[in-house]
Formats: sequence, C-alpha cells, structure tokens
Amino acid sequence: MLRVNRVSKTFNRDGINEQRVFDNFSMDIDEEDFICVLGSNGAGKSTLLNIISGKVQVDGGSIILKNRDVTDDAEHEKCKNISRIFQDPSLGTNPSMTIYENLSMAKNKGNSFGLSFLINRKDEEYFKELLRPLKLGLEDKLHALVSQLSGGQRQSLALIMAVIGEPDLLLLDEHTAALDPKTSEIVMGITEDIVEEKGLTTIMVTHNVDHAIRYGNRLIMLHRGNKIVDIVGEEKSTLTKEKLLALFKDADDKSLFS
Ligand SMILES: Nc1ncnc2c1ncn2[C@@H]1O[C@H](COP(=O)(O)OP(=O)(O)OP(=O)(O)O)[C@@H](O)[C@H]1O
Ligand SMILES: [Mg+2]
Repeated sequence: MLRVNRVSKTFNRDGINEQRVFDNFSMDIDEEDFICVLGSNGAGKSTLLNIISGKVQVDGGSIILKNRDVTDDAEHEKCKNISRIFQDPSLGTNPSMTIYENLSMAKNKGNSFGLSFLINRKDEEYFKELLRPLKLGLEDKLHALVSQLSGGQRQSLALIMAVIGEPDLLLLDEHTAALDPKTSEIVMGITEDIVEEKGLTTIMVTHNVDHAIRYGNRLIMLHRGNKIVDIVGEEKSTLTKEKLLALFKDADDKSLFS
C-alpha cells in the first residue's frame, strides 16, 4: 500500500544546525495497518509524516503509494489521498467558519471555489449523519462557529473532515495530546471507530504508551531515525507495557514509560 523506500533526510545540511534525521530508512505499510508510532522527542516521527504527506522533500529515496511513485508530487496533490490531523486543534478546522461550512469545505476537498455556503438540505442531513455517531451533540450545532467548540469537539470534527473524502491514508500526529485525559479517551474511541468503519490505513504518532499498546495492529518505535521496535499482529494484540519496556531496554530513553 505504502512503501517508504531508503529515505534520507538531513535538515540544514552543512550548516551549524545540520540535523540528519533519516539515513536510508525503509518501511512497508499494509492496507490494513493501523500503526502506532512511539519515540522520544526529535526521533523523527513528525518528519516521517511530513515526508509521506509531501510537506518535507527527501534528499534520497522514494515514497511509493499504491504502486505509484509519489516522491515528487506536490503536497496539495498528495492531500487528495492523504489526510492529516495535528496536535493543535486549531489547525484541522477553520474557527471563523461554522461546522456546516467546515464540512462543506472538506467535502469539496478544501476547494472553496464556488462555495457560497448556501444551506443545502441534503448536505445538512448528510453532515448530521456523520456527526451523530460522535455523540457530542455537534449535529444540533451545525451553524455554530467552530471557535465556540472545545478542543475535543474540534479534533473530532477534524477527524470527520479528514475522512470525508475517503483518503487512502490517515496520518495522526499526536492528535489527542492537547486534550485533557478524559477527552483524549473519547477522541481515541472515535478515532478507532472511524478507522475501523472505513477500513483506513492509519499511522498514529503518540507519546501515550497505553494508547500505542491498546490501539492498532502494529506498533513501531522510532529512535534517532531508526525503527528499533516493530511489532505486529498477535504479538501486538498481546503486548503489555512490561513486554514493551523489555524490548526497549537497550535504547537510551526510557522517559516514555515514566
Ligand atoms: N523543518 C525543519 N527544519 C530543521 N530541522 C527540523 C525540521 N523539522 C524537524 N527538524 C529536526 O529534525 C529532528 C526530528 O524532528 P521531528 O519533528 O520529526 O521529531 P519528533 O519525533 O516528531 O519529535 P516530537 O516528539 O518532539 O514531536 C529534530 O531534531 C528537529 O529539530
Ligand atoms: Mg512530532
């Protein structure tokens, strides 16, 4: 489904801040994968998502999506097939527009051209149907401004917006990290439901070890641009914190487990 093929990336090459993040990094992602990515600060998690989504250009190597080399595709080209949600709830939605307008934008793939936001009854019903399973009451607030929503409500809306166009790939970069623990659990539950229902290939970066153990079929740990743990299937479903810590004992950062 997705192949990250011998990718290398160095920021500020030959400068005083030179930062080699990846050197010949490879990874294959299957269609049914829901991958949780753990790793210490600076390990390269966000850069990996940036490379896949086309935000960051690689120095060498290639990205193959569904047998097509998309390495040099522009970010706006890629985002038709790849959706992304960030840690900051304000990035995934437009706060000065209503829920209805945000969903209309997403439905039209971010293309505001020709959008007059005249209320369309059919869309209204469709959007309510999409929002109802969240159980956050957003279906009754279609015409409220997104700026009036809580962080958790916004991230949930961002999730619905991210998958409305049936993307090939969903990239989540610590999308619950800015939420309080209870809201974070709710949004994770919603995430799991959506990923399962739509059968989405998903890569979720998280610092939450419990979430990484509980969700998905595969767990990867990145350390200084290398995959030091890659657990999948049965081994993943029976994984415990203790087992993961044992696997991780050779790496020099155990702060994740504190
Ligand atoms: N645009 C950039 N320009 C220069 N350096 C960058 C850029 N993006 C990332 N880096 C550097 O690359 C390294 C990896 O960063 P990255 O953001 O991928 O880490 P991360 O694993 O997501 O960390 P965190 O858990 O803190 O989010 C860091 O040293 C960072 O400073
Ligand atoms: Mg990051």
